[in-house]
Amino acid sequence: MIYIKVLVTGGLGYIGSHTCVELLNNGYEVVIVDNLYNSTIDVLQRIEKITGKKVDFYDFDVCSYEAMDTVFSENKIEAVIHFAAYKAVGESVKEPIKYYQNNLLATLNLCKVMLKYNCQRLIFSSSATVYGKVRSLPIKEDAPLSTTNPYGTTKLMNEEILADICKANPNFSVVVLRYFNPIGAHKSGLLGENPKGIPNNLMPYIMRVAANNEREEKEQVAEYKYVKVFGDSYDTLDGTGVRDYIHVVDLARGHLLAMEKCFNSLGIDFYNLGTGKGYSVLDLINTYEKVNNVKVPYKIVAKRDGDIAACYADTNKAFKELGFKALYGIDDMCRDSYLYQKNYIKEHGEIF
Ligand code: NAD
Ligand code: WQD
Repeated sequence: MIYIKVLVTGGLGYIGSHTCVELLNNGYEVVIVDNLYNSTIDVLQRIEKITGKKVDFYDFDVCSYEAMDTVFSENKIEAVIHFAAYKAVGESVKEPIKYYQNNLLATLNLCKVMLKYNCQRLIFSSSATVYGKVRSLPIKEDAPLSTTNPYGTTKLMNEEILADICKANPNFSVVVLRYFNPIGAHKSGLLGENPKGIPNNLMPYIMRVAANNEREEKEQVAEYKYVKVFGDSYDTLDGTGVRDYIHVVDLARGHLLAMEKCFNSLGIDFYNLGTGKGYSVLDLINTYEKVNNVKVPYKIVAKRDGDIAACYADTNKAFKELGFKALYGIDDMCRDSYLYQKNYIKEHGEIF
């Protein structure tokens, strides 16, 4: 068996941790660099527990050239999956410098060190956010690109930087993955997403409202009494926003297929990772209630600035060229998020 050593930046984060599990279960060796900005060290032990494999970990900032040089000098890295970034859209509007600094510098440094060590395969975490104000659905990879917030702009700028690096270095191979809306959790209940503070995204908010509702009335927290549904007058079936939710384990598998592509071709290419199906906010709330037999109260409130009515992927390119097809449906995503929620509460006593 050939052991390929993959560096995973941001490997203790939500998507990174699930991807490390898939890599380890498929014979790759994994080195993680994560500065624990948005993750905790116990995730490392959880990855090792699920897979029964050892992972090398560096608590380093990808923005430090010296630190990344150390990682490459101590390991023969053959490919990199670059997850490390800040990802909160609202915060990026308030603190654009913080976002440009972290999300651009990390990639620039990483590529500089990769070139020094002749490591030429990179998978980059981009986002459906680069499609900006969507004009036609489903969204194909060659749709017009634009952004509506600094976080999105960092993703688009990263894509352009990587395209230029590939032009200048013909032996470089980059696969850019544009994720739609990842939700769900690992079936062990050991890995999942539980953001610090009040969640911006829908699924973590639903989880907290469901957990709050299971508490005694006097112990309930006002913030999580109900989900605030941002608008019900969109041009969608039930008037609420429609998104392409994808199970995080499917997303993780997509990185393994992208890795094969990285080893078999040169230059840069771009792929949507989604299911191709759109579900509304109310679909997600209703499904969470149904499959988990819980209550998720909600109220319709004003639209959120910058939101679009609907967004879902054209999945044909990823299927034809990577062989990617999502295996899990919306019921699985809701069931596994709840499993993580239950397990988290069992371990920590509470989820917020
Ligand atoms: P996450 O915050 O859970 O994981 C990112 C990890 O990177 C964290 O563990 C954080 O500590 C680490 N990190 C950040 N900056 C770092 C730095 N400079 N040096 C070292 N470590 C650093 O986020 P996620 O949801 O797992 O997202 C992973 C990637 O996918 C990000 O690039 C994100 O922008 C992108 N993405 C996420 C979503 C989503 O909805 N979750 C959608 C599209 C794209
Ligand atoms: C989904 C739907 C909301 C919260 C964001 C980023 C995007 C990407 C994924 C990183 C929308 C509605 C939400 C709530 C609600 N991240 N909603 N009440 O906005 O599609 O995408 O995460 O790249 O860049 O913008 O995801 O989960 O925030 O919202 O009604 O409390 O749920 O209006 O229709 P979004 P989301």
